[in-house]
Amino acid sequence: MPKTKLLTILGARPQFIKAAVVSRYIRTCDHINEIIVHTGQHYDHNMSQVFFDSMEIPEPHYHLGVKQPTHGAQTGRMLEAIEQVLIQEKPDWTLVYGDTNSTLAGALAAGKLHIPVAHVEAGLRSFNKRMPEEMNRVLTDHISDILFCPSNASKNQLQNEGITQGVHVIGDVMFDAFLHYKNKAIAPEIDYPFALATIHRAENTDDPNRLHTILNGFKQSPVPILFPVHPRTKKQIDQMGFHANENIMMIEPLSYFHLLGYLLRCSFVITDSGGLQKEAYFAGKRCITARNETEWTELIDSDANQLGGDLSNGVQDLYAWAMKPLSHEKNIYGDGNAAQRCVEILTN
Ligand code: UD1
Repeated sequence: MPKTKLLTILGARPQFIKAAVVSRYIRTCDHINEIIVHTGQHYDHNMSQVFFDSMEIPEPHYHLGVKQPTHGAQTGRMLEAIEQVLIQEKPDWTLVYGDTNSTLAGALAAGKLHIPVAHVEAGLRSFNKRMPEEMNRVLTDHISDILFCPSNASKNQLQNEGITQGVHVIGDVMFDAFLHYKNKAIAPEIDYPFALATIHRAENTDDPNRLHTILNGFKQSPVPILFPVHPRTKKQIDQMGFHANENIMMIEPLSYFHLLGYLLRCSFVITDSGGLQKEAYFAGKRCITARNETEWTELIDSDANQLGGDLSNGVQDLYAWAMKPLSHEKNIYGDGNAAQRCVEILTN
């Protein structure tokens, strides 16, 4: 029987985590040959290589080295380079993850060559077209042939947009990753209560006033905030000259195992990351989302997440809510076998 050739496009930190569990399952299947393409979107050692090393993701077969700073140039250069790889490799499927520029470039390059596209994390919407991620996910879903949804809400959203063929609710591959790797979490050497925060979205970092307001919100936290700073955010903080107080501990971006360690030990989470909103829930922590909307509406419905905007209004109430313990009996993101389901659907 000929092997199924699967070409996986990666580029940004959350994609390395998602692909780690899918690629791990693929390696147990003799009938699949996976080609990994890294666009280069994230290139700092602790944004990229550290994930490949610690999560045992196979080295990419192609490294496209795309580092263009603007969206058009970045996506365009990826499109051109991915097209060359697809022409050479002629895969049966192209597999893309999430909502980054690498996702859209991969889907578009494959779609135009009539190579079937599968999208993991399909059907998520913020309904905020100013977010580059929203454009990326809407367009990718409408190009894709197979759409892997993490929950029923995302399936229903696709249906609202007229996409009913090739839609599969498989659960969330990030939950698979959490279950698989949580025993490898590296506990932080902190013996007092703290909160874990990350901020990196363009909507929060590009406007210095908004970022300033969010950081001022951090200063009012009832417990110190441990803040691994994304390179985009660091550039802006350096430029605007923000002075942190003793309530904010800024550190380098964390490896996945270190992040899990902090997550399991923290009192609560503040973030604008889609991934961390869910990881907080997996770890049983409440999350204040520093945005005006979220794609992960199930978390709001479960009272695990509240929208905090720029943390300028009612932040003390949010902190009082976040400090309360969270209990949930049933996981809304599947049973930890999403990666296996994804691969089985692609190869059947
Ligand atoms: C991207 C994704 C976002 C995802 C996030 C995860 C898009 C539109 N956005 O946002 O969906 O949640 O990754 O982190 O694709 N930079 C470095 N070192 C790096 C990576 C980036 O210095 O390793 C710099 C870039 O040069 C750029 C800035 O950080 O100036 C932003 O990087 P970019 O990859 O464009 O977007 P992210 O904000 O990381």
